Amino acid sequence: MEYLKIKGTTDLQGSVEISGAKNAALPLLASSILASNTVKIGNLPDVADINTMVKLLKNLGSEVEVLDCNTIKINTQKLQETKAIYDIVKTMRASILVLGPLLARFGHCEVSLPGGCAIGQRPVDLHLKALEQMGAKIVIKKGYIIAQAKDGLKGATIVFDKVSVTGTENIIMAAALAKGTTTIINAAKEPEIVQLCEVLAKAGLQIEGIGSAKLEIIGRARSLLNFCDFDIIPDRIEAGTYLCVGAITNKKLKITKANASHLRAVLAKFEEMGYKILEDEDCISILPAKKIKGVHIVTQEYPGFPTDMQAQFMALATQASTPSIIDERLFENRFMHVSELNRMGADISLNGSVASIAPGAKLNPADVMATDLRASSALILAALVAKGDTNIHRIYHLDRGYEKIEQKLSQIGVSAKRFNE
Ligand code: EPZ
Repeated sequence: MEYLKIKGTTDLQGSVEISGAKNAALPLLASSILASNTVKIGNLPDVADINTMVKLLKNLGSEVEVLDCNTIKINTQKLQETKAIYDIVKTMRASILVLGPLLARFGHCEVSLPGGCAIGQRPVDLHLKALEQMGAKIVIKKGYIIAQAKDGLKGATIVFDKVSVTGTENIIMAAALAKGTTTIINAAKEPEIVQLCEVLAKAGLQIEGIGSAKLEIIGRARSLLNFCDFDIIPDRIEAGTYLCVGAITNKKLKITKANASHLRAVLAKFEEMGYKILEDEDCISILPAKKIKGVHIVTQEYPGFPTDMQAQFMALATQASTPSIIDERLFENRFMHVSELNRMGADISLNGSVASIAPGAKLNPADVMATDLRASSALILAALVAKGDTNIHRIYHLDRGYEKIEQKLSQIGVSAKRFNE
């Protein structure tokens, strides 16, 4: 396995270019199952999760042409395998996103249950309940979801008991080829879902309410869609993470190819903490705070403060001049980074879903272990303010969602080197 050696730094320079959003690319790649033509997708992030989804689609029989590390052409016309195998699904739980499109197009499919991960159980009961309301017969056998809809899926009114990002995405794609209208109530509103809807609408799908919690989709009764080429939107979580690099070192940092409108709740928290944020077209700059103030964060569904930025702000809060509180409301186990941050000298205590972060921690270099994608980035942030070398182990977690992380860090003056254990 590999580890990343990060040397604490006191100075940054230059700017960081933000890559395409992993969590937009995953459902959009899966949506190619609904296409009657070849789809060209640009600005794909070159990260492990995307490569896993492409591998899954090829395993199902799709033809993929790689034009460069961020651009592919995919054609699913020859796709006839409808079993998403455990070996692939176990490495990336978002593989569940092929369930809706496969079932809608072929009337049957088998998808391995994705299982939980470090941050929680991650059930998919809401996905399955919604598909059953659309006429699917679903059984779970030997760890596989076996779904049938011999006469195709039917439009239905789906009320999500909980807001679910991939649940909403799966049902949007299932509804696209269903017979009749599907209304989704309590839909997730993330920018990644907006782009999925916009791409499907440009391909001929009638969708009302894009960006709202209520979507109305006129199904096409298995008649495939004619996709236009498109580029993936910028990754708002990568953008927020690099802004945290500037914040925790309290140095000016500029990020480019970002979309500030996808980050309003995060930018507001930086300003609450005393930083200044400048926006100029697709660039965002963070300027140092005179005094870093503590913060109170409650993670919520979009447009609230994203759970995927919680770990990064926890690392940042250790450097504030007053105490902070972070309440993680989405996942039951998303505090795996706390023990590692405390090992570096932070003073964070947990009470259920609420973390209390003492101010002014002097963080020391250490050997630490990444446990999940965003926790890994929190450890990098902590390493920046620790004087000396910190080794972050199991960085395959990082490689799932952060493209060219050493190169991007090195470009702004951070010493970040990858080694084999
Ligand atoms: C998506 O996961 C993201 N992944 C996650 O990003 C993100 O943290 C999460 O949304 C929340 O914003 C992708 O988009 C690929 P949910 P998802 O369904 O869709 C419960 C990252 O770092 N729930 O919105 O799996 C669930 O347990 C990843 O890039 C059910 O109970 O999350 C959670 O408590 C990590 N039953 C809540 O809903 C279900 O059937 C929100 O989960 C589905 C979800």
